[in-house]
Amino acid sequence: MVASPSDDAWSVVDMIDQSPPVDCSKPYDTSTLAGKTILITGGASGFGAAFARHWARHGAHLIIGDVNDRAGEALVAELRSSSSPDQVILYQHCDVTSWSDQLALFKTAASSSKTKSIDAVVAGAGIVERGDPTTPSATSTVFDLPHALDSDSTTSPPPPPPLRVLAVNLTGVMYTTHLALYYLPLRAGGDRHLLLISSVAGLMPLVGQTEYTVSKHGVMGLFRALRGSAWTRGIRVNALTPYFVDTPLLPKPALALLAGAAKADLEDVVDAATRLMADWGIRGRALAVGPKMRVVDDEGDGSRVRMVEGEGRHDGERRQAVWEVYGHDYERVEVFVWRYLAVLNVMRRVRGWVGLVTDMLGLCFGKRA
Ligand SMILES: NC(=O)c1ccc[n+]([C@@H]2O[C@H](COP(=O)([O-])OP(=O)(O)OC[C@H]3O[C@@H](n4cnc5c(N)ncnc54)[C@H](O)[C@@H]3O)[C@@H](O)[C@H]2O)c1
Repeated sequence: MVASPSDDAWSVVDMIDQSPPVDCSKPYDTSTLAGKTILITGGASGFGAAFARHWARHGAHLIIGDVNDRAGEALVAELRSSSSPDQVILYQHCDVTSWSDQLALFKTAASSSKTKSIDAVVAGAGIVERGDPTTPSATSTVFDLPHALDSDSTTSPPPPPPLRVLAVNLTGVMYTTHLALYYLPLRAGGDRHLLLISSVAGLMPLVGQTEYTVSKHGVMGLFRALRGSAWTRGIRVNALTPYFVDTPLLPKPALALLAGAAKADLEDVVDAATRLMADWGIRGRALAVGPKMRVVDDEGDGSRVRMVEGEGRHDGERRQAVWEVYGHDYERVEVFVWRYLAVLNVMRRVRGWVGLVTDMLGLCFGKRA
């Protein structure tokens, strides 16, 4: 049984406080970034490092966790040299597959912040499967090729797959999310934001990267489930699903395959992440970042808009790289999900009164709600 999107009474989107699709052609205000305490996992390189550079310029406090200590420390030294002395900018070793490492990172972030709390979390750490599938003797970790893990594969079955990609990209993100759901509500008022980094591989299969595809689909599942519940604790959950971007993540063979093909630009990923981070009004949305496309408005009134590849430009055309994902929105859900969310909604209303009393008691007795 499916809830009808035409019937307002069935509007799950309203019920879960999801904001309307994002119009990425509109400007956004970055002044809200100043003073935010933002924790980034995997922040020593690529997207995370680019976010940190951009957000530090806008006055954010940054706590960066990564396994690449040399890159993380160099980044922090660079950011400190160009930031205000009031800004907290820290690096701490953190392997996201280790619960104790992540807990220690969150504790450092909360204790170093002036409000003793965290405003935003970016679950950015990620790896891909490596190994050359064309070389039988390679110590490949590509999931689909068990024979590559064991040179004696004709006579014995393979050992268990390492599943390292799942450990970093999914278990690591689940740990980050679990801690974010605990720490973000410690912030009394203000914005509370969790930004999940999925991929185009979270929307479609990336053949030859099965484990990576599974992990990024998993992150999208996490996003879709959480946006139905995290609002009850005042947390905005959003996601990014970028196309290929030239960062150290991509193995050389993948870059060779992409040679000549359009890639997405790092600056557009930063733009999309900054929009989601800065605009408190965006809740429960995912943005795709791809190569810049020409946007052709056939009727001139937005009623028939096409995306066209290529560099050529005509008067009145604009180019855009960031798009709302839409897919799997809550526009149509089956009746169990609708009823379940209705219960959550009632709880939120009740929490309005209960929460007020709890917060007052918390203020009196020094305990945060
Ligand atoms: N580059 C792309 O084309 C692309 C596209 C879509 C999504 N993504 C995703 O964006 C995220 C960032 O990737 P990137 O392109 O910036 O790559 P990157 O390799 O530059 O950055 C990833 C960071 O994660 C860190 N990391 C790896 N394992 C870790 C662990 N166990 N604990 C903590 N940190 C760890 C790395 O040291 C590195 O600093 C990843 O989740 C990736 O899957 C990347």
